[in-house]
Amino acid sequence: MIREVLRMGDPRLLQRAEPVQAFGSASLAALLADMRETMAHLNGAGLAAPQIGVGLRVVIFGVHSNPRYPDAEPVPDTVLINPLLEPLGDEMEDGWEGCLSVPGLRGVVPRFKRLRYSGCDDQGRHFSREVSGFHARVVQHECDHLDGILYPMRIRDFSRFGYSEVLFPDGSATADD
Ligand code: NI
Repeated sequence: MIREVLRMGDPRLLQRAEPVQAFGSASLAALLADMRETMAHLNGAGLAAPQIGVGLRVVIFGVHSNPRYPDAEPVPDTVLINPLLEPLGDEMEDGWEGCLSVPGLRGVVPRFKRLRYSGCDDQGRHFSREVSGFHARVVQHECDHLDGILYPMRIRDFSRFGYSEVLFPDGSATADD
């Protein structure tokens, strides 16, 4: 079922989400199905459970040759539950971000360039990956949602924050993610 995505200003987006305790349940499967359907409907790069009003530490993400991200390397479709993020080094990188909870806007956000993330898949199997660049950015953005952080809260240079259609009048990167 396509769910309503909460928008910035809703206090539920500012809460810290709770860890998932039980895997393989029908309710977790239903949550993930709704998240996938909602993300696909909105052509998003990722979605966190709190964005549909569910306060659990569950994110999904994935990017496949999306014309909105012509320079972005593909990111595999991933379910990440109870994630742990460990930056690899101090290096930060600026990049444009949008968010389904902040529709119509984009901003430049500094993120760790490289990190290791670990957590569980939908069946509770533990896994970890070392990633960089856009993949690392997507993970940091989505996992921030689990701690009540929206990307505008991380912007340092507000001269690079604005309406997508004004910033990118050629139509690139105009949708929200
Ligand atoms: Ni977001």
